[in-house]
Amino acid sequence: MNRSFNLFAGIIGSFALSCYALVLLPKQQLGGLQPQTVEDEGKITEIYPINNVAVEKGRAVYASEGCFYCHTQQVRDEQNGTDLERGWGVRRTVARDYIFDTTPFLGSNRVGPDLANVGSTKWRNEPVDENSKYKPAKRDAAWQLLHLYAPRTVIKSSNMPPYRYLFENKKISGQRSVDALALTGSDAPEPGYEVVPKPAAKALVAYLLSLDKSHPLKEVKGSAPEVAAK
Ligand code: HEC
Repeated sequence: MNRSFNLFAGIIGSFALSCYALVLLPKQQLGGLQPQTVEDEGKITEIYPINNVAVEKGRAVYASEGCFYCHTQQVRDEQNGTDLERGWGVRRTVARDYIFDTTPFLGSNRVGPDLANVGSTKWRNEPVDENSKYKPAKRDAAWQLLHLYAPRTVIKSSNMPPYRYLFENKKISGQRSVDALALTGSDAPEPGYEVVPKPAAKALVAYLLSLDKSHPLKEVKGSAPEVAAK
C-alpha cells in the first residue's frame, strides 16, 4: 500500500515538476513580454515590435504557400551558427521579436536563406555565386515580385520554385498596368499581354518587406546599449 502510494506520488510529482519547468516557468518569464518603449518627456511610446495588421493577409499567404518549409525566420547568435556572418541579420532574434506573431514561422529547414530580416535595409544574403553582385542590398517590391514569378530572372542559379499562379497573364487594354512585371526573354508574355500580380502576391510581398527584426533590444548584448529601453 505504502509503496504504491510512493510510486503514484512520484509519478504525479515528476509530471508536476516537468509541467512547472517546461510550461509554467517559461510562461512566467516570457508570457508577459511587452513591446520595447521609450520615454520622452514623461510620454511612453511603444517602438518595437509594432503590431502590423496591414500585412496579415500576406502572412496568411506565406503560411498557405508553405514558404516556411524552406525558409526559417530566426537568426542565431555567433556561438550557434554563422547567420550573422551570412548577412541574415545584425543581431540574434529573441522572444520579444515574435510577440505579435500569432504563429511564429521559425521554421526548421534552410533550403533557402533565413527571411527574418528580408525587408530590412541591412539584410544581405550571403554572396553565393557570381550573380549575387546583381542583387540589391534591399530588394524592393518590384524585385520581390519578379523573384516570386520567375526566381531565375533575378538569381540565375536559384532553386526556388516559381509561384506563377499568384500572377495573371492579362491582355493589355489601353495603358500598361503600373505593377506589370518587367519580364524579358523566354519569361516575357506574348505581345499585347502583361503579367500582373494577383492580390495574394501583392500581400505576400508587403509581408516580406515588413520583415525586419534588426531593431536593437536591451536583452540582446551589443545590439545597441545607447537605446533607452525599458
Ligand atoms: C522548395 C524550397 C523553397 C520554397 C517552398 C520557397 N523558397 Fe524561397 N528560396 C528558396 C531558395 C533555394 C532560395 C535561394 C535562391 C534564391 O534566392 O532564389 C530562396 C530565396 C528566397 C528569397 C530571397 C531572395 C534573395 O536573395 O533576396 C525570398 C524573399 C524568398 N525565397 C521568398 C519565398 C517565399 C515568399 C516563399 C513562399 C511563397 C518561398 N520563398 C518558398 C527555396 C524555397
